[in-house]
Amino acid sequence: MSRHTAADMIGALCLAALAATLACSSTAHSNAPAPRSGPQTINPGELWPDDRGQHIQAHGGGIIKHRGLYYWFGEQRGQDLPRGQRAVSCYSSPDLVNWTFRRNVLTVTAADRPADLPGTGLVLERPKVFYNAKTKRFVMYVHLDDSGYRAAEVGVATSETVDGDYKLVKHFRPLGQQSRDIGQFIDDDGTPYLIFEDRPNGWHIATLSDDYLSVEKDVHLFPEHMEGGALVHLDGLYYAIGSHLTGWAANPNLYATATSLEGPWSEFTDIAPPETKTYGSQSTMLVKVAGTRATTVIFMGDIWRPRTQWDSRYLWMPLKIGDGKLLLPEPRQWTLDITTGEAVIDEQAPAMALPPPTPRANSLP
Ligand code: GAL
Repeated sequence: MSRHTAADMIGALCLAALAATLACSSTAHSNAPAPRSGPQTINPGELWPDDRGQHIQAHGGGIIKHRGLYYWFGEQRGQDLPRGQRAVSCYSSPDLVNWTFRRNVLTVTAADRPADLPGTGLVLERPKVFYNAKTKRFVMYVHLDDSGYRAAEVGVATSETVDGDYKLVKHFRPLGQQSRDIGQFIDDDGTPYLIFEDRPNGWHIATLSDDYLSVEKDVHLFPEHMEGGALVHLDGLYYAIGSHLTGWAANPNLYATATSLEGPWSEFTDIAPPETKTYGSQSTMLVKVAGTRATTVIFMGDIWRPRTQWDSRYLWMPLKIGDGKLLLPEPRQWTLDITTGEAVIDEQAPAMALPPPTPRANSLP
């Protein structure tokens, strides 16, 4: 992302593509960009164009690294998605900054809606993909629900290849409990965990079965009522982040620490000055980049625009984190060097303007 206007950026990207291919189509699929070296710029809260010059549609997303590339899966909220359909998009990047649109890897139409999913309508949110090295399958978890958010289930979809097609193979309430927002955590030893919000009880960190198709057992249940759950393991400590339950509206996200996932966990405290409401964003994931010189933990948050979902923005910032303390710095332009792992915040750059407040939802979730 550069500091130019969206129109400038899209124009420049299209011109570059035109020169290279004599074609500048909004739907053309291009090959992965050549890896760029050195620091790459991220501007939190701005439009984030993909290789086609289109704003990335990967909301409530998750990231995995596979065979040297990062893959970002998220909610496809593009305006061209037919009404009643829900889809998961997939983008790839060598450096976490320059993203190539791969495809919509899972699309669920009204006709594909599982007949035994309670209620009517379809919600498919917060996709997270794990790679199972034993079965050589990619396993996607999604929050699957009816339009009233009463079913409160997870859907599981699998694929032979990272960028699809994923097929929905089952859906259920994990451990028999309600599940709305989900998160994923893969520990340094490769163990995968599903994080899920359970309205009556709190939020869970749970293990998966050998084939990753089932949720096996609780490692920890936080009694605090929080969602947007995310975890990172750094220097022998686990840090857990989550938001309060205010629907699309931003709230002050919190963190706690523990030396083991089972706990005991510390009290939850603010990740940023509470009056900023996490600078208008909500947590979705923590991404650890261990480079040759430094380790950076990126806070990956969504700035939701519920009435213009396709225009929802991303707040990615390197955290100030260590020794049990965690702070989300005031968002402004920064650079990430994927090789060295170094993140540099441009302290001279203007701070991101705080997004206007989003009205609080009256209903679940
Ligand atoms: C939020 C949740 C989002 C979406 C939204 C709908 O609480 O984090 O993923 O479900 O509610 O109101």
